[in-house]
Amino acid sequence: MIQAGNGRISTVVISTALGLGGRGIFPYTLLPGYRRLLRAVRETGTTILAKSATRFKRSGNFNAWNPLTWKYIRRLPGRGMLNAYGLTNPGAKTCAREIKVAAGQGFQVIPNLYPEFAKGTVLAIKDTLEAIGIYQNLLGSDFWALELNFSCPNSREAIRENVAQGLKCSREVKEKYPDIFLIVKISICHPYEFAQELESLGVNALHAINTIPFAMIYFHERSPLRPVGGGGVSGGPALAAALEYNAHLRKKVNLPLIMGCGVKDREDVRKYLHIGADAVSICTLALRHQGEAAEIIRKFNG
Ligand SMILES: Cc1cc2nc3c(=O)[nH]c(=O)nc-3n(C[C@H](O)[C@H](O)[C@H](O)COP(=O)(O)O)c2cc1C
Repeated sequence: MIQAGNGRISTVVISTALGLGGRGIFPYTLLPGYRRLLRAVRETGTTILAKSATRFKRSGNFNAWNPLTWKYIRRLPGRGMLNAYGLTNPGAKTCAREIKVAAGQGFQVIPNLYPEFAKGTVLAIKDTLEAIGIYQNLLGSDFWALELNFSCPNSREAIRENVAQGLKCSREVKEKYPDIFLIVKISICHPYEFAQELESLGVNALHAINTIPFAMIYFHERSPLRPVGGGGVSGGPALAAALEYNAHLRKKVNLPLIMGCGVKDREDVRKYLHIGADAVSICTLALRHQGEAAEIIRKFNG
């Protein structure tokens, strides 16, 4: 658990799997197991890290209403997933409103923003600061923490390139909003020096790691999602690499760490706690095996 001035982050957190507002993703909400998971999350006060929003509406690859795009999210053996979702979302204002509704229903949601550095650093930071202002206006005291996602593009090169932009963005967010508990979500492709610099500029916690580029897990195979960058691997197949990265990261920074990627059962949660996680995140398990995710939450957060 992470205790932070105005709030707390539970020992196990659900990342992304409850959607942009944190109350669940359609059509998963039709599944009884998923609804039981939502109940467990609410009853245990489990922290929810929302799915990434951008300042303005964005059409990514995947769209729940268009079956032709469902191929961008696939199952992998060993409780894994491969996705190139591409950050489809209706923009920060709509997402903030959804989080407000979730908060009113007792969900503990931390918003997640994706700065669109592809637009250029200055514009991406301007948009991000504006989006934070929107969250503050709409959420009031329910807005005490924010996660910035610097780790989404699924190709190794794209992620590595955003180090300088991520530092500049974090610095400006910290300067303008010093009281917000700022979590930065990083990738296995980021050098440990990135984490250390984020620590020294005042970021409050790190979330490591996001999905892993396909080619880093399946060295000799071609990704079925090659035309859109290869996709990111999550769940079971990603665990070994993610644990190794996090074990090293723990030795490099003193910041609170939300560790995750690859958790497929409660043993994996223990593995992360054992290497020094302050909190452990789960996503794929919550989408694919909701019953087990609910049991984990009741065990560690109950
Ligand atoms: C379908 C899907 C969509 C995702 N979307 C986002 C996102 O919008 N923002 C983000 O920061 N992470 C996103 N993630 C990454 C997860 O939050 C998590 O960090 C990653 O899947 C590794 O954890 P896991 O192995 O428990 O799934 C997504 C993952 C999946 C499987």
